Amino acid sequence: MTVEEGEAPASCTVRRAHAEEWQSIRELRLEALRDPIAHLAYLERLEDALQRPDSYWREQAQTAAAGTSVGKFVAVGEHAEFVGTVTALVTAPGEPDYIGETSAHVRAAIVGVYVRPDQRGGGVLQALLSETEAWLQDIGVQQVRLHVNEDNVRAQGAYRKCGYVDTGTRVEMVDGVNHEMVRELRATQSERGLDEQTTA
Ligand SMILES: CC(C)(COP(=O)(O)OP(=O)(O)OC[C@H]1O[C@@H](n2cnc3c(N)ncnc32)[C@H](O)[C@@H]1OP(=O)(O)O)[C@@H](O)C(=O)NCCC(=O)NCCS
Repeated sequence: MTVEEGEAPASCTVRRAHAEEWQSIRELRLEALRDPIAHLAYLERLEDALQRPDSYWREQAQTAAAGTSVGKFVAVGEHAEFVGTVTALVTAPGEPDYIGETSAHVRAAIVGVYVRPDQRGGGVLQALLSETEAWLQDIGVQQVRLHVNEDNVRAQGAYRKCGYVDTGTRVEMVDGVNHEMVRELRATQSERGLDEQTTA
């Protein structure tokens, strides 16, 4: 199936998760942490996530559903099940981000990326990232970045396809060496403008 840039596959819709969906968010997160490559994909471990009380999941879902510091986006299948997710963490200038780095500009990190195995290769990630990036642009974020384990070659390929560029920076994290990849959202906007002009 050919999927146009940012378009969700016909069987999916992509939107921000709602606070009251905390149980579905929890289920998808636990499924992600059971993935055979979870040790290369997430800093959290399944046994730790299983210990967390419901109040933790409720609070996380509430924070991610409103406001501009965290945005959790989900791909929802035809039976209302969650089939994929992306979370954006926004940091203000001078504020340490999720790996303790600061920047002179507001910027965002993409974390917690997961697409169910039966939905992979079909454009779900691209649709999730596109929706997340549109939200980030709306709140004034101009650069988004992420870290991907050096051995997680599928994720690296997927991010490249979605316009993320390896900066060459390598970051040692608890799961090993990670590649920093970034996407300039301002450039994305002007590219879209150029596309519109070309196709008009
Ligand atoms: C990472 C993830 C979200 C990507 O979504 P996806 O739908 O699988 O991605 P896609 O299939 O569209 O893209 C993967 C690309 O990587 C490449 N790729 C796939 N498998 C590969 C492999 N074993 N080796 C090298 N490249 C590979 C391909 O180029 C493919 O692009 P193509 O469509 O041009 O062939 C999904 O695989 C997933 O949830 N994985 C488990 C959790 C995870 O790794 N999360 C990311 C943490 S940073």
